[in-house]
Amino acid sequence: MIPTDTFSPAPTQTRSGLALSFRPLEAADIAPVMALESQLQSHPWRRSSYEDCLAGRHHCWLAEASGELVGFVVVAWAGGDGELLNIAVASQRQRQGVGERLLALAFELVRPHASMMFLEVRLSNRNAIQFYEREQFFEVGQRPNYYPSARGREDALILARQL
Ligand SMILES: CC(C)(COP(=O)(O)OP(=O)(O)OC[C@H]1O[C@@H](n2cnc3c(N)ncnc32)[C@H](O)[C@@H]1OP(=O)(O)O)[C@@H](O)C(=O)NCCC(=O)NCCS
Repeated sequence: MIPTDTFSPAPTQTRSGLALSFRPLEAADIAPVMALESQLQSHPWRRSSYEDCLAGRHHCWLAEASGELVGFVVVAWAGGDGELLNIAVASQRQRQGVGERLLALAFELVRPHASMMFLEVRLSNRNAIQFYEREQFFEVGQRPNYYPSARGREDALILARQL
């Protein structure tokens, strides 16, 4: 079992040759992480959700390229199941392999604690669904009216994958 406080992922390169390093979220990172997410999501996370990471309830790791924040991932685990709670890559850095590196990091973090990884995604988020399908996630259910949306509520797809 990897103790999370000593988890120390090695720097890596994306398939496009971008050099990435990883580190856990700190309090000073919350504002830039929220700014990144607010450019991508209609309903980004509130500050308190990121504060849950600092409190140890979730685990948030950042990907940086030459000190620039390019993406982040948030995971949790309980009772033998892992959950991918959030993942985002800055729009100018998408389609370069950062997402797949963040997902690999998420698997590495969760694998000692869980054999399955679950996630929820908006039914309209075709890009993310394609991204997850390529990473061997499969549909295990739907949650009707799960997300707030511009036109009321929107269904969630529940996806899962073995670790
Ligand atoms: C989903 C997300 C994290 C993917 O990050 P990324 O760094 O662009 O992903 P990668 O470059 O590693 O892509 C890997 C593969 O996923 C699929 N994929 C990723 N983005 C895609 C897109 N916009 N359209 C179609 N397929 C896509 C492709 O198969 C891609 O491989 P390819 O570029 O060789 O075709 C990113 O698009 C994002 O931040 N989206 C906004 C936030 C979000 O919706 N998060 C998910 C919440 S559930």
